[in-house]
Formats: sequence, structure tokens, C-alpha cells
Amino acid sequence: MVCIRPATVDDLLAMQRCNLLCLPENYQLKYYFYHTLSWPQLLYVAEEYNGKIVGYVLAKMEEEATEVHGHITSLAVARTHRKLGLATRLMTAAHHAMADVFDAEYVSLHVRVTNKGAFHLYTQTLGYDINDREAKYYADGEDAYDMRKRLKPAKAKAEVSKTLARKAKA
Ligand SMILES: CC(C)(COP(=O)(O)OP(=O)(O)OC[C@H]1O[C@@H](n2cnc3c(N)ncnc32)[C@H](O)[C@@H]1OP(=O)(O)O)[C@@H](O)C(=O)NCCC(=O)NCCS
Repeated sequence: MVCIRPATVDDLLAMQRCNLLCLPENYQLKYYFYHTLSWPQLLYVAEEYNGKIVGYVLAKMEEEATEVHGHITSLAVARTHRKLGLATRLMTAAHHAMADVFDAEYVSLHVRVTNKGAFHLYTQTLGYDINDREAKYYADGEDAYDMRKRLKPAKAKAEVSKTLARKAKA
């Protein structure tokens, strides 16, 4: 039995360990602290019945952008616990928090162009689209897909819908 719950400062070392085992993109512990101190609502872990952390999502808000949007910094699930829907649940929890707490318009992420498993998760299960391809984004020279998923209807579209609704009422 695995539960998805918000991460606390006490989980950061286990999250980092999971990251080191699963991904070539690793971060210093201070980067995890930066996330949890800045956006504590956007970090989730998958915890096994015995307390072992078997997955995490690390996310943040982009503050310099014109549109408020969230960004998935890192996601990983231990090999022993893959294809059980854990990544889907972790990502869904982060999406909801971005929309509910920070009023995010959309969420973005980067994924290696050869990472078929993650690409399937993002496009087929979670509804992300490719926004761009960034050449040599990763340290080893691999390209990344810059992907996005809208969390709210685009402002212009929302305004048109509101206007149409007002006209229909009148
Ligand atoms: C990518 C990763 C997070 C997926 O985690 P997961 O818990 O196994 O994913 P889920 O069980 O929620 O799977 C969601 C969907 O993706 C599909 N999927 C997951 N891994 C897949 C793979 N290797 N190949 C093809 N499809 C895959 C699942 O079949 C499922 O599809 P469905 O909704 O049609 O049934 C996990 O494989 C992982 O940690 N990989 C290494 C780290 C990594 O690549 N992180 C992402 C960096 S951008």
C-alpha cells in the first residue's frame, strides 16, 4: 500500500536518494530546501506502508513570467514501484495545488526526447503538449521537449466565453 502525501523537510534526504537512483539530473540538498521553503504546497512523496519513500515530485512556480505558471522540476518513481499509477497521482496532486493555491494558468516541464516512458505519461495520461524542442538542453547534449499543460482556459478564450454567456443571458 502506497500513499501520496505532501512532503515535509524530513523527506528531503529520501527524495534526493530517490532522485540519485532514478535520474542523471541531480540537485544539491539546498535546492530541495529552496523548493520546500518557497512552495511547500508543491512537493509530494509516495510513501510505502513501512515509511519508505518510493517516489516524489518536486515543483515550483515561475515568478518572472507574464503568465503565472507552475513548473515540474523533477519527478521519479523507484523501479520497484513503476507502472502502478504513482507518477500520475503525484503529478495530479502537484497540478491541483498549482491551480488551487497559486492560480496557475499552466504547468511546464522538460523531458529528454528519448525518455519514452515519461513522454507517454505526460502526453497520453496527463494531457501535456509539446511547446518547443530545446537543442542540447541537457549536460550530455541531449535535446529536451519543453512541454505544457493548461490548468485553466486561456485568458482570451475565457473572456470570449464570459461575453457569450452574458449575451445569452440578456
Ligand atoms: C517516468 C516515471 C516517473 C513513470 O512513473 P510511473 O509511476 O511508472 O508512471 P505511472 O504508473 O503513473 O504511468 C502512467 C502512464 O505512463 C505509462 N508509462 C510509464 N512508464 C512507461 C514506460 N517505461 N514505457 C511506456 N509507458 C510508460 C504507463 O503505462 C501509464 O500509461 P496508461 O495511463 O496509459 O496506463 C518513471 O518511469 C520514472 O521514475 N522514470 C525515471 C525518472 C524519469 O524519467 N522521470 C521523468 C523525468 S522528465
